[in-house]
Amino acid sequence: MRLLAYSNPFVDMTHIPAADLATKLAELAPGDLNHVFFTTGGSTANDMAYRLAQFYHAIRGLPEKRHVISRVDAYHGQTYASVSIGGKPGDRVEELEFLDNVHLLSSPNIYRYGGGLAEEAFADKLYAEFAELVAELGGPGHVSAFFAEPIMGSGGVVPPPANYLERIWKYCRDNDIIYVSDEVVTGFGRLGEWFASEKIFGIQPDIITTAKGLTSGYLPLGAVIFSDRIFEVISETGKGPGYLPMGYTYGGHPVSCAAALKNIEILEDEGILEHVREIGPYFMERLNSLRDLPMVGDVRGSHLMVCIEFVRDSATGEEYPYQVDIGKRVSNECDARGLIVRPVENLNIMSPPLIITKEQVD
Ligand SMILES: Cc1ncc(COP(=O)(O)O)c(C=O)c1O
Repeated sequence: MRLLAYSNPFVDMTHIPAADLATKLAELAPGDLNHVFFTTGGSTANDMAYRLAQFYHAIRGLPEKRHVISRVDAYHGQTYASVSIGGKPGDRVEELEFLDNVHLLSSPNIYRYGGGLAEEAFADKLYAEFAELVAELGGPGHVSAFFAEPIMGSGGVVPPPANYLERIWKYCRDNDIIYVSDEVVTGFGRLGEWFASEKIFGIQPDIITTAKGLTSGYLPLGAVIFSDRIFEVISETGKGPGYLPMGYTYGGHPVSCAAALKNIEILEDEGILEHVREIGPYFMERLNSLRDLPMVGDVRGSHLMVCIEFVRDSATGEEYPYQVDIGKRVSNECDARGLIVRPVENLNIMSPPLIITKEQVD
């Protein structure tokens, strides 16, 4: 802060903490994701990713590639574009207007919507729905981007069934659709990896958006990490103007970038990702022991990103009436015992600190 309290990140300006952090992110991100645009958080990162995809296609003379595909229960933030790309029913209220070029596929929540299908069959159904939607939109020549969190977060901690995300990614790769992996929650160790897309789910996205764990929450910062292919189109040597006509006054704030660099250094020095890889399965194992309770319908997630879904009767899956506010009731009881969990309707969502110990899990 004393070295550089503020600097302007627009167009042809940058500063040392941002340049150093971009170098580090390019090293940690999978494949050819070697370019970074800094934002102020996750919403602004997804907003930028949406515009970056649009810009990339338009520069190549493909402005008709304008439709965006996302999913019911997805959460991508609160700006006009990012909330439009989201699919949480509670956010998409009828009093508000949303982008009309965003199309939502079914939620991949097998517990709620699997209809008794086995995981593979449910994944097939979801993939078929994706392929049908692309066809309805006029084919891949009309589709700009697909957005997905590797594991849905606030929409109910939903891991993707079987290899359905990987199949969608392959389709996107082969058909010139930008795959945006929203790693705002899953990045920086929550699943024991810097990024989950490639390491855990076998996806090599064109764009990764991230925030939160990038500074471990100490200061606000977000990042859009994008591919050589996109960079080359926009750069002076490509067809583009050589710069992005986009920016935020506080995007890539030097103090936030310095905090992110220190945060990554600490995660590395203290072996925190390795710790999450060890403690994560134990956390899941202990939570799974709660399945014996009749009010526990489902326990899902991975490593330190989990939720418990409460139902009135685990045998039938019958839900509690909304008025019971079951998630809040349980979380209040946890609170009284010194444990913070996040209530979301009939769920309790847990994102413990990455340094949680075995004793604390118990
Ligand atoms: C997956 C995901 N994307 C985007 C966002 C939005 O990030 P922010 O609140 O930093 O704007 C969130 C926030 O919870 C999120 O969980």
